[in-house]
Amino acid sequence: MIWSPDSWQQKPAVQQPEYPDRAALEQALAVLKRLPPLVTSWEVNALRSKLAEAQAGQSFVLQGGDCAESFADCESTLIANRLKVLLQMSLLLVHGLRQRVVRIGRFAGQYAKPRSADTETRDGLTLPCYRGDIVNRPEFTVAGRTPDPALLLKGHKYSAMTINFVRGLIDGGFADLHHPEYWNLDWVHHATLAEEYGRRVQSIGESLNFMETLAGQPIGEFRRVDFFTSHEALLLNAEAAQTRQVPRQAGWYNLSTHLPWIGMRTAAVDGAHVEYMRGIRNPIAVKIGPTMSTDWVVQLCEILNPVNEHGRLTLIHRMGAGKIASALPKVIDAVEGKGHKVLWLCDPMHGNTQSTAGGIKTRHFDDILSEVEQSFAIHADCGTRLGGVHLELTGEDVTECLGGARDLTETDLERAYKTQVDPRLNYEQALELALKIAALGARKN
Ligand code: PEP
Ligand code: CO
Repeated sequence: MIWSPDSWQQKPAVQQPEYPDRAALEQALAVLKRLPPLVTSWEVNALRSKLAEAQAGQSFVLQGGDCAESFADCESTLIANRLKVLLQMSLLLVHGLRQRVVRIGRFAGQYAKPRSADTETRDGLTLPCYRGDIVNRPEFTVAGRTPDPALLLKGHKYSAMTINFVRGLIDGGFADLHHPEYWNLDWVHHATLAEEYGRRVQSIGESLNFMETLAGQPIGEFRRVDFFTSHEALLLNAEAAQTRQVPRQAGWYNLSTHLPWIGMRTAAVDGAHVEYMRGIRNPIAVKIGPTMSTDWVVQLCEILNPVNEHGRLTLIHRMGAGKIASALPKVIDAVEGKGHKVLWLCDPMHGNTQSTAGGIKTRHFDDILSEVEQSFAIHADCGTRLGGVHLELTGEDVTECLGGARDLTETDLERAYKTQVDPRLNYEQALELALKIAALGARKN
């Protein structure tokens, strides 16, 4: 089949909303096609090269952010706090791993969610499920749940505002290593790990002074960092509308994000998502779960990266702490055995979701850490390398995941459980995980 940005329409597309007003959908997509893009092909190519370096063992990838962004949370403090925690984590990783870190936000477009059922029934009334703010609204009313094409344009606008603010902060000097105090979160001196973090920052500051003294001048590299964006490429109409050709570059680029990924529920070899993703020039990722056969994963590699381009394909395994030991080694052996070159990331969140007796969706810090620990060990045994992590986290003091240094219990979950979808690591848990990863990676990588 010849690829085009719309060739996916010939294949079964799961997880797509049913828009009752087709004309309004076509109109919104026509507008989306003409709006300026959110990212550029240069940046997309730069990320592909950086991922190739990570694949070659020269850097470590930190990909993180909310499970789903919401329009209501497109707000300066929340965005800045999320950036702060990612910068703090990356600093700990650079220091501990003695390696560069590639920072990729799970933001500026992470508005659509795959769901386990298309509809939801309450008191005899059945309505479409909530698929994220870019599709419909959580309220259980006919108006709230009807997919609305105008939200596609609103999503583009909120993504643009988010990326604009992040770019402004980074380019303005927010990520300057000489000023890690810019990344402090107001309430953090109460955090149990604040002291440990402070010590590392001080030690990095001293090394920086030392190097600049040797160099005889400030080193520009330390004044800014690169930040990239990513989201699950779920709504194919919208992704295709933002897929463009650009002057002096071959091929088609998805210019809504640097790194789009295929979720586990949409990774069918013959499905529309794989068809769409195979044709774009972006680096891409696929989530790999414990129920996916080795043949399936190998076929994905063949279809998505037939020429074995370095930096093109990232496999994000999300097996669960209890399953990774039996599931991951055979996937690695099969992929490597066929000569496919990929970047391996671990998502220790999505295989470790559990419900409390009271029905609250949560994850335990110990399971998350255990999956990361096992990932390092399994890759080392298989002769491959864990090249990074994919996390759901926030810069806020929420109580959504259990455990961690403060040992959050089920009763604590009631205090600040804010997520509409999956439970996120809070600021302290995220920092603790970064410290642990830095220690583990320094040993194994
Ligand atoms: C997600 O990343 O929020 C998600 C739904 O993950 P997965 O596709 O791995 O289940
Ligand atoms: Co999630």
